Amino acid sequence: MMPDHDLRNIDALLDFYAASGVDAGLDEAAHDRFAESAAEAQARAGRQPVADRGAEARPIAAPAANPALAASAEDQALVARSAARAAATLEELRAVMEAFEGCALRLTAKSLCFADGNPAARIMFVGEAPGGDEDRVGRPFVGRSGQLLDRMLKAIGLDRNLAYIANIVPWRPPGNRTPTPQEAAICRPFIERQIELCDPDILVCLGGPSAQALLGSRDGIIKTRGRWFEYATGSRTIRAMATLHPAYLLREPRQKRLAWRDMKALKAALENPPPS
Ligand code: URA
Repeated sequence: MMPDHDLRNIDALLDFYAASGVDAGLDEAAHDRFAESAAEAQARAGRQPVADRGAEARPIAAPAANPALAASAEDQALVARSAARAAATLEELRAVMEAFEGCALRLTAKSLCFADGNPAARIMFVGEAPGGDEDRVGRPFVGRSGQLLDRMLKAIGLDRNLAYIANIVPWRPPGNRTPTPQEAAICRPFIERQIELCDPDILVCLGGPSAQALLGSRDGIIKTRGRWFEYATGSRTIRAMATLHPAYLLREPRQKRLAWRDMKALKAALENPPPS
């Protein structure tokens, strides 16, 4: 049995890791991923990587790479696009995404957080990426941000039976970091197809990364929010708006008045569909 002082040291070490944002144990040994990527790039270019470029330089073997992950983000986005296009229903799309191996985030995430709410809803909300609670449960927006989103929906007479909810990236980035542009680009064909298959009348981007990915906005979210955009789903053009992300509103409650303005505009738009 381990002595008490060792257990206390382990507790302190785990507390230190948690405070530093380390919330998932992936392997027993540390890996230098930058060195591995360099080795993979050299191997792809047909050169043997060397451990040390000095007099004693010896060739070292490139680490075994997952071939699905070795391709570039552009290649993976193309694979994702053609797989997403082949899905004729949301359930088929979910199956395609469960089987997709081209995004490294799925290796560290526990679940695919595909969607929540009602796929027949007239309004669809798209956030950034799942957090820890979402990853555990396997559904988007179930943690604190999700609870605030529920209150925002309720304020305009909606709930999860009247809204469909997804994310730009369906796998949790480790430590809840922002998805990289490459990860967002690889996953974009999936959310685009999900929007097309859900076919809402109104699309709402929650936060800047969602607005950038789907509305092509280059301005910050404070400037982008509350404006109407046109979004081409592939089968028709619908109205779209960006608003502040609930996680941001939890940190900056004074900005709730801006989100409230956006929610009222969304309610009015649902009540007054454009003439067909
Ligand atoms: N934040 C998001 O953007 N999505 C979630 O699902 C949860 C938190």
